[in-house]
Amino acid sequence: MGQEIKDGIYWVGVNDRRNDLFESYWPIPDGISYNSYLIKDEKTTLIDGAKGGFTEEFLGKVESLTEVEELDYVIVNHMEPDHTGVFPELRRINPDLTFVGTEKTRELLESFYGITQGIEVVESNDALDLGSHTLEFVETPFVHWPETMMTYLPEEEILFSGDGFGTYGALDGGLFDDQLDVEKYYDEAVRYLSNIVGAYSATLQGALAKLQELNTEIIAPTHGPIWRENPEEIVELYDKYSSGGAVPGITIVHGSMYGFTEKVTEQVARGARSTGLQDLKVLDASRWHPSYLLSAAWKRRGLIVGSPTYESRAFPPISNFLEVAEKKKLKERIAGIFGSYGWGGGSAREIEETAETLDWDLVSSPVEFNGQPSKDQLENGFELGRKVAEAIED
Ligand code: FEO
Repeated sequence: MGQEIKDGIYWVGVNDRRNDLFESYWPIPDGISYNSYLIKDEKTTLIDGAKGGFTEEFLGKVESLTEVEELDYVIVNHMEPDHTGVFPELRRINPDLTFVGTEKTRELLESFYGITQGIEVVESNDALDLGSHTLEFVETPFVHWPETMMTYLPEEEILFSGDGFGTYGALDGGLFDDQLDVEKYYDEAVRYLSNIVGAYSATLQGALAKLQELNTEIIAPTHGPIWRENPEEIVELYDKYSSGGAVPGITIVHGSMYGFTEKVTEQVARGARSTGLQDLKVLDASRWHPSYLLSAAWKRRGLIVGSPTYESRAFPPISNFLEVAEKKKLKERIAGIFGSYGWGGGSAREIEETAETLDWDLVSSPVEFNGQPSKDQLENGFELGRKVAEAIED
């Protein structure tokens, strides 16, 4: 059943608790929601859709409120198939419905689904009159893809924000922030932001500036809770973590095949703590998916990476983390590097390359050691941790 969120406005989204990986890559142990909204008015309108595997459930919710044949518009804030997989079926049932989106959306509707007719292209400041509701469009490119826009409903001061202000986590029996364990969703919002939209932090900041001009009572994203009690909290979170506002903590991401590197990890961690540092997270890259490594590193200003050498480069789980960090633009950390080798080195060099690419500020040259770390090398590890901890407080 669709659930009313305001007079004449309904949530018709679905919870995905059956897929382990979002985008077939990012773990979602608590699931995810694909939020969609239906407005009943003179013109009956859907805002965003759902993933293809959920078509039957999605259509059931829509049909609890209206016949699909009665739909006039589908507002397309974002074309990623987690929100558009149901579109071919909507169009098949109702050939007369009109998809509304940006020029780029028009191109993607054709390349994804062969939809070329019944498309209305809109730009920022365009509006659509539904009867007693008006929809105003704000282009927000690259939150998350280039075609992205947000849709504002001024009569109710609701912003339908697409992926912006979204989180991982299915909706556990409620729809709104005041009905749910909100702290869990805030944690997942940082992981979602770092994994999905954080690479576009600059454009996200641009979108936030545009949205400041709107009076927003409710933020209704495509993933996670609808923010009505404290919409400013999720806006602040997104603002903070897309503007280099990481907290003064340290993430240590390390790998170790036989324990030599791990001995130095322990010293690095102790050195960091010796300064009184409270926020320290140590993560073994062999045991944590890059989603979590990235999220932890996104949250904290300090980052220390340690790796054994493997075929003249870094250990594969560390290389994997570095690649994801580069793709997602984990920039401007205060950083340290340590690495071991058996004969020729290479691990530290690979981490240094990423540090240079991402403008990480290294507190010293890498702490490298051959085989078992000596007493001096363990002390160097301790010093490395201490220096990064002191640098993040400056
Ligand atoms: Fe939720 Fe970028 O799709």
